[in-house]
Amino acid sequence: MKYSELKKLKFGVVPAKRILVFFAVALIAGYVLASTAESAKGEEARTNRLVIHADKGTETISRDIYGHFSEHLGRCIYEGFWVGEDSSIPNTRGIRNDVVEALKKIQIPVLRWPGGCFADEYHWKEGIGPRESRPAMVNTHWGMVKETNAFGTHEFLDLCEQLGCEAYIAGNVGSGTVEEMQDWVEYMTFGGDSEMANLRRANGRDKPWRVKYFGVGNENWGCGGNMTAEYYADLYNRFQTYVRSYSGNRIVKVACGPGSINYHWITVVLERARRNMGAISLHHYVRGSGNWTRKGSATKFDDKEWFALMKNTLTIYPLLENNIEIMDKIDPRGRIDLYVDEWGTWWDAEPGTNPGFLYQQNTLRDAVSCGIFLNAFNKHSRRVKMANIAQTNNVLQAMILTKGEKMILTPTYHVFEMYKVHHDATMLPMDLECADYQFGNEKVPAIDVSASKDKSGKIHITLCNLDPVNPADVACKLPGVEPAKVSGRVLTANDMTAHNTFDKPEVVKPAVFDGFSLSDGMLTVKLPAKSVVVLEIE
Ligand code: AHR
Repeated sequence: MKYSELKKLKFGVVPAKRILVFFAVALIAGYVLASTAESAKGEEARTNRLVIHADKGTETISRDIYGHFSEHLGRCIYEGFWVGEDSSIPNTRGIRNDVVEALKKIQIPVLRWPGGCFADEYHWKEGIGPRESRPAMVNTHWGMVKETNAFGTHEFLDLCEQLGCEAYIAGNVGSGTVEEMQDWVEYMTFGGDSEMANLRRANGRDKPWRVKYFGVGNENWGCGGNMTAEYYADLYNRFQTYVRSYSGNRIVKVACGPGSINYHWITVVLERARRNMGAISLHHYVRGSGNWTRKGSATKFDDKEWFALMKNTLTIYPLLENNIEIMDKIDPRGRIDLYVDEWGTWWDAEPGTNPGFLYQQNTLRDAVSCGIFLNAFNKHSRRVKMANIAQTNNVLQAMILTKGEKMILTPTYHVFEMYKVHHDATMLPMDLECADYQFGNEKVPAIDVSASKDKSGKIHITLCNLDPVNPADVACKLPGVEPAKVSGRVLTANDMTAHNTFDKPEVVKPAVFDGFSLSDGMLTVKLPAKSVVVLEIE
């Protein structure tokens, strides 16, 4: 999606309005802050003003916003999760233990599988039964490689149980049949006596699984069948009829929504099928200033490319607001949720790797972009109830990179770990007046923030400083709260291209943050340039 298209759209809270709201609050509160800008070696700290309404939160930030997506693509499933029972890499029933442990630490709430584009050419019956007799197929979307079907329904649902997360399965509309989809849901979730439930038992699983979410197709405007919105909406109505809730498993049916800007698609699908869905999806990938043929390097970039990613990442705000506006019109009671079930950065594949495998490194730049996306989802938690970063291991904006028995955590993983304090917490509304991060003739807001209050009453604020050069002073008021204790953590590095490698796995990792002070109820924070910070206020 081109940013020029998004520029025409309104941002949800226009800066002028933010400034007015801020000043009104500041006057009532009776304080005016003096600018504390200071200079150090040409680096200027700008003062930003933040008011967090700790007593006004009404929306819960669904933990599923911190969800993940894993596709049969490159080395995401094979090598990333699945090494097989005979592997020398420590595993439980073929699934690598180190990856499961790492994902449990970020409390992964939900995992979407098997695609992506792969979902609309996946025939689940080829992935059950004795592994040695499962037929192989060609993964035509992703590198034309052989897909052995060694990892299928039983392996995926075992993985979800090992992770302690919900399963989100994407069904095949593009090349599948209604019967095939109906059988799959019955196979997984029916507890009674039926052909499919008995087949599951014969394959070693007596108890039905819990499958909370089921997607009816994926990107059916593109790789999932190149359909029109009208045609898909009608097919959706037909397919979803046979996606049943069996044996106490209440399944949430998810309709395929748009990729970035496609307001016609979401409008038509909602108008024609709104009674039959629990949620509709949205996909949004971002990159630097390149195009889809040359997206740019994940690790070799300059400040122009840094700025381009920050600007492109911020497009998530108008995109969410415009889609939610459409949803509010067609579904005014707010029954249908928005799931951003694919999002993240997309760079050129690492040199020397199969371009069809979408293997990319992950730098501090990806981490700041991730922090902005998650802040945006938090602040739109009224409608956004799930989001799934693409993808968990070794593909696109991954949490985890593996090489044989080695595994490293990416800067993006660390953002998910720092932000887990927001899971199921109450989103706190805020007013922010902030300086610009200017590059050439262009500018974007320099900082991005979200805040929540957890069940024990602790307040968490996550702040991103988009500016790679200038630190930012943030003067933060929390009306009605008397902070007694503040602590923090920061993710940053000296170099904007900093990333973790198999030789140096801890170049980018969170550190204790003490760049704040508390005086007369006012919290003053000095955000380092190019950083993500989480504060805990008790
Ligand atoms: O995540 C990679 C691909 O991006 C997915 O398969 C598809 O849904 C999207 O276009």
